[in-house]
Amino acid sequence: MKYALLLFSALILLSCNQEQDPAISDSGNWWKEGILYQIYPQSFKDTDGDGFGDFKGVIEKLDYIESLGVTMVWMNPFFESPLVDNGYDVSDYRAIHPRYGSMDDFEKMLQGFHDRGIKFVLDVVVNHSSDQHDWFQQSRSSRDNPYRDYYHWWPAEKGEPPYRYSIFDPEGAWEYDSLSNAYYLHYFADAQPDLNWENPKVRQEVQDIMKFWIEKGVDGFRLDAFQFASKDITFPEWPEGHEKDFIKWYGMRPELHDYLREMNEEVLSKFDVFAVAEGAGSSFQDAHDLVDEERKELQMAYHFETVSISRTPEGYTMPELREVLTKWDSAFVDKGWIAIFLANHDNSRLVNRFGNPDPKFRAASTKMLNTLLLSMKGTPYLYFGDELGMTNIDMPTIEEYVDVSALGEYKAAVEQGRDLDDFMKELNYNSRENSRTPMHWDKTKEAGFTTGMPWKKVNENYLEINVENQEQDPNSVLNHLRKMTKLRSDNPVLVYGKYKLIDKEDQHVYAFSRILDQEKFIVLLNFSSENSSLSNPEISSKQEVLINNHQGISIDGNTVDLLPYQALVLKDTE
Ligand code: GLC
Repeated sequence: MKYALLLFSALILLSCNQEQDPAISDSGNWWKEGILYQIYPQSFKDTDGDGFGDFKGVIEKLDYIESLGVTMVWMNPFFESPLVDNGYDVSDYRAIHPRYGSMDDFEKMLQGFHDRGIKFVLDVVVNHSSDQHDWFQQSRSSRDNPYRDYYHWWPAEKGEPPYRYSIFDPEGAWEYDSLSNAYYLHYFADAQPDLNWENPKVRQEVQDIMKFWIEKGVDGFRLDAFQFASKDITFPEWPEGHEKDFIKWYGMRPELHDYLREMNEEVLSKFDVFAVAEGAGSSFQDAHDLVDEERKELQMAYHFETVSISRTPEGYTMPELREVLTKWDSAFVDKGWIAIFLANHDNSRLVNRFGNPDPKFRAASTKMLNTLLLSMKGTPYLYFGDELGMTNIDMPTIEEYVDVSALGEYKAAVEQGRDLDDFMKELNYNSRENSRTPMHWDKTKEAGFTTGMPWKKVNENYLEINVENQEQDPNSVLNHLRKMTKLRSDNPVLVYGKYKLIDKEDQHVYAFSRILDQEKFIVLLNFSSENSSLSNPEISSKQEVLINNHQGISIDGNTVDLLPYQALVLKDTE
């Protein structure tokens, strides 16, 4: 089973008690009104030639980040770690991996964001730690160690523990450890033992870690894999095939809400910070319970249903996407708030998954997708490189992969006797390594990312797709994104306006409106590589054209003719 199929969730952010940032309104809802840019730090910009991105590289690019018109940045983990899962295996939550720089560099970078009115969101990986964390080293050392209950152990004298699926490990989620003759639980890799959230000491440790970073000035937290923090720790036998409904069986126990309320009371409510949990549970009820303001848990959730519709090379259809986004919007009309994303470090590239990477359509379809992200209700999460239309990389053989998830999936495919050619085609399309290749800054060697040997090979198409080229072209994907972020920041209707489909049937044109008080915006997106036409009484040639990702526009009366992947945002002026 694919890792990607299993993770469907939500985020939370917190913001620090610092002065109000200039770019953000003082409504207290900056996390609703903001636009988030996600930075995968090892792939953004290297300044010391070791081939890994670093904080100094981010500092060098602060003006660029600001120029995108984003108001929040979420950075993937940069803590001390053996890097089995690229930093999602933390061995010291208060220390920075030297690859990224020092604490002093971190503080300078954070100050640089704040000086530009950009809030900083920290990735908190506390469903599990690294097996190299001191807590785990102590925990495994003996059954009576005070840290024993920081993790989940099954004594071997009870026999083999009941089967548990592991997202990364085809051998399952229990690992035998001879030191204390017991098995420990790891939902991800065996180097990522799950923390025991039933233990109040663990929860206290996490709260202390959050406060440590709040004191440094961070504004928000993304709680990694958080829906799995609470599990049935009586570990009963479960029916065969249960793992297909992974979240239901493996996480989202009622106690999770108690833990979140406690975190809210002890940490979140005390500062101007926000938190978003990866994973929104397995039902709307779960999602609501996480973000209902009255329950005082989290501020935002992100679900995985959208990204899960396009996981195979066969692709998806626009009506499926429309249905998922509409369904989730309607579930949050009255209460709660969600994030909107179509790509991140766990998915392949935006344009390959949802657009058309053919050079003829790449730019137009990326602009169209960015138009969608920035005109939906919910906080938009943009992934670095998608502002340029960066694409997947071709990696047809398993030897090229380093990701623990890809390697685990391959091992499982071999064990299951799958057709490995088919498997590799799927992996090549779907692997999250696609979105982890270095950023394309310019046309120099290694795309200006590093003067050394990049940790991951740079996509060959960097000579064409890069910041330098796109800065010079007023119609580039990059400049289109800037127009869209400005439009959203200038128009509360795009943040708070009611979302309504104006056409529910068309197979190619995704057409919706956003309405706030007297203001009405119409968004028309042609998801086809062919021309498409749509007639609708809500469309009119009198409407003002705010955004058009093509040169021409054709509206006659109530009929619009759209070019391939054309995206329009119109304003009703009547
Ligand atoms: C989350 C992260 C992913 C990581 C996993 C284990 O899903 O987004 O990158 O591998 O958790 O921490």
